[in-house]
Amino acid sequence: RTPMPTPAAAHGPRESLPRRAVVTGAAGFIGSHLCQALLARGVTVIGVDRRDPSKHLSAAHNLADIRTHPGFVFATGDLRTCAIEPLLLDADVVFHLAGVPGVQPSWGADFDDYVASNISATQRLMHAVTRLRIPRLVVASSSSVYGAPDGDRPSVETDHPRPASPYAVTKLAEEQLCLAHAARSDCDTTVVALRYFTIYGPRQREDMFVQRLLTAASTGLTLQIYGDGKQRRDFTYIHDAINATIAAGTVYLPNSVINVGAGRTISLNDVVERAHQLTGQPINVRSTSARSGDVSVTCADVTSARRLLGWAPTTDLVTGMATQLDWMASSRSPSPVAAEAV
Ligand code: NAD
Ligand code: UGA
Repeated sequence: RTPMPTPAAAHGPRESLPRRAVVTGAAGFIGSHLCQALLARGVTVIGVDRRDPSKHLSAAHNLADIRTHPGFVFATGDLRTCAIEPLLLDADVVFHLAGVPGVQPSWGADFDDYVASNISATQRLMHAVTRLRIPRLVVASSSSVYGAPDGDRPSVETDHPRPASPYAVTKLAEEQLCLAHAARSDCDTTVVALRYFTIYGPRQREDMFVQRLLTAASTGLTLQIYGDGKQRRDFTYIHDAINATIAAGTVYLPNSVINVGAGRTISLNDVVERAHQLTGQPINVRSTSARSGDVSVTCADVTSARRLLGWAPTTDLVTGMATQLDWMASSRSPSPVAAEAV
């Protein structure tokens, strides 16, 4: 079991915002929002991603608002192979969000990429981070590390992890690998692993439920629900997740594992109903077979996040979905992945 860290107050005052931050996975959903929020706070940001925005439309869309920002430098690089140290020079914090997400593809031929990008690339990054004595690394872990719920109560960081998919196994390995480096007596880097719970909002990945639901609501296309739709998720709004992430790079902390979730759970069927009420549109739903590794419920206990990060989620699901719908309506190309260069 992961030891519970003591509150931030016991470890000294709040630190100031980083001056210079590296964000891996910068062209992705969460990474692009993080870059934007850091830039808005005056932080210089080095964004790294293996998807070159001049070749990948969804990466270009994600970065559209910040590509020309004077405080932003984007480097195309694959963390499995690229030279990492030059990217990290003079950084106060590294936010490690690069990785291959999604539960289902991890059962198939993509597994090697999950291992290489989520585990081996993280090992390369940690060697560079610790050698350069970067003070803080924040790593994107996942609610999926918990697996099947332990009774009816929300998941606490000290729960025994029972990952139910190959993806979840790689995310558990990733966070524990970072923590193993941080525990070395010669390591000057503090690691904060954030277990994100199903993040949604503008620019959400096209394979994810809320994006597909809102697409179905606005186009009339059929939404496929895997299983009976009674599975429950702790849907967490992107801006709440970003605020927690910035706090994790800012607040004085020991090595920690912290849940980042809304702390509320809702079934997919109920989310469909909420989207129907929000849009006034009928939503065509087709049930298909349940998918392996798809856990029945996720729900975060956010006591640690409140205590250690001074953070609380603020956006309810209907408000968050309304903002995502607005973004979809205003987006120049609502379905960039359809035209994605591979
Ligand atoms: P995303 O796919 O939109 O972003 C990930 C980015 O990482 C992509 O742009 C991709 O090109 C990049 N990347 C992958 N492998 C790389 C490599 N080897 N070198 C360099 N770049 C690489 O995914 P996301 O939803 O933004 O997720 C970001 C992180 O958060 C991932 O680590 C994911 O496992 C984790 N996470 C996401 C959620 C969620 O709900 N979205 C929940 C829990 C954890
Ligand atoms: C999401 C991300 O995809 C993972 O990368 C992340 O690690 C994980 O959150 C997490 O919280 O750690 P998931 O909770 O499965 O995984 O989120 P969605 O992909 O949005 O799926 C939510 C539910 O909707 C799942 O039960 C899924 O099977 C279902 N779903 C999804 C459908 O029924 N239909 C769809 O078209 C898509």
